Amino acid sequence: MTSPAYPVAELGSDEFYATTDPTGLWRRFAADDAVVWTPPSTTHNGFWSVFSHRACTAVLAADAPFTSEYGMFIGFDRQRPDAGGGRMIVVSEGAAHDRLRRVIGGHLARATAGPLARVVARELGDFVTAAREQPVTDAAALGSALPNTVVCELLGVPAADHERLRYLTQFAVGAPDDPRLMSPSTAHLQIMGYFADLVRHRRRAPGDDLVSHLLGHGMSEHDVLINCDNVFAAGNATTQHSVTGAFDGLAASPGALEALRTDPAAVRTAVEEVLRWSTPGPHVLRVTLRDTVVNGRPVPADTAVVSWLAAANRDARVFPDPYRFDIRRRPNRHLSFGHGLHYCIGGALARLELRMLLERLAEHVTAVRHAGEPERLRATKVNGYRRLPVSFEWR
Ligand code: HEM
Repeated sequence: MTSPAYPVAELGSDEFYATTDPTGLWRRFAADDAVVWTPPSTTHNGFWSVFSHRACTAVLAADAPFTSEYGMFIGFDRQRPDAGGGRMIVVSEGAAHDRLRRVIGGHLARATAGPLARVVARELGDFVTAAREQPVTDAAALGSALPNTVVCELLGVPAADHERLRYLTQFAVGAPDDPRLMSPSTAHLQIMGYFADLVRHRRRAPGDDLVSHLLGHGMSEHDVLINCDNVFAAGNATTQHSVTGAFDGLAASPGALEALRTDPAAVRTAVEEVLRWSTPGPHVLRVTLRDTVVNGRPVPADTAVVSWLAAANRDARVFPDPYRFDIRRRPNRHLSFGHGLHYCIGGALARLELRMLLERLAEHVTAVRHAGEPERLRATKVNGYRRLPVSFEWR
């Protein structure tokens, strides 16, 4: 079932991504339109993978015979399901999923259009002030700070607790500096414990935040907690690597910032290119609902199938010259926010953060340069850098 030419065992290995830049591998997989089986090793039961843009969108299509209810990351499957299945937005389906999307999406849209832009502006102002004082800046530090503050504000977390939640998130979503300090499940439990206190507080004193909003829709405390955990992790761990990735893309494309300054309309296409370039969520997993055919291969029911969004985003059939960071790339049908019914509900917020970041950089900086060895994340669930030293040429 496996092709010996491909390093299929590594696909589910956190360590592999820390030590190897996987882009070359993804390029090959996407070019070959590969469909490969990773046998049980890093996971208990193994999983199939697809890589091309066409194959990934086919697996994620709304009418495809797959479910998210057993989990959406490598490691989950029919026999080892995600405990939130059926009740947490990203791993629910049908009527429960529709309702969660309506309730969470409504609040997210209002917050994105209103107060969160002010939070982003304030954070970026602080960043520019601090970066001007340093010869070298770790772009990953801004990456981890900005979205964390934004989702904390979204959920109504007091400023004094932002740092604690930022610390826990890196363990929960799999890219900590030292993974031995805490397991992902312990980190999730601690985050949920924190939100349990917040829920008690918001019951007494509701505010204009997501926790109060969910409580106001009659959700059980348990469902509020797991969905807060979902929104918190989803909005934080992904956006942070697109923010860091923006600096990486700009460093790879001299002249891009100058072009953004003289042609502000290009910011919109540049945001999409940052999303494609960084692909912070490199994969999503589904489980087959019945015997089916995946990219020409028969796959039995109850089998895990992974769509490699990071590979699809480098598929040369869809993205000419895919290894060029092109701020004017159009069309740009990247899959960074997924595809189908679970398409990212926070896309507008992530785009807002990236748009404001690029505008602020174009205003103050003429060039971004790599200023040291980057360190890749030790993670299968998220893609990018844990350290990305850069220097700036200020206006
Ligand atoms: C769903 C990526 C930002 C909340 C998704 C999915 C992807 C994704 C790939 C689909 C998962 C699947 O199909 O199983 C990203 C990226 C982001 C980002 C790359 C930033 C660059 C955000 C933000 C929030 C958020 C800012 C909220 C504050 C969610 C939620 C879902 C989701 C709740 C589940 C939607 C559903 O199941 O219907 N995201 N996301 N994301 N995202 Fe995002």
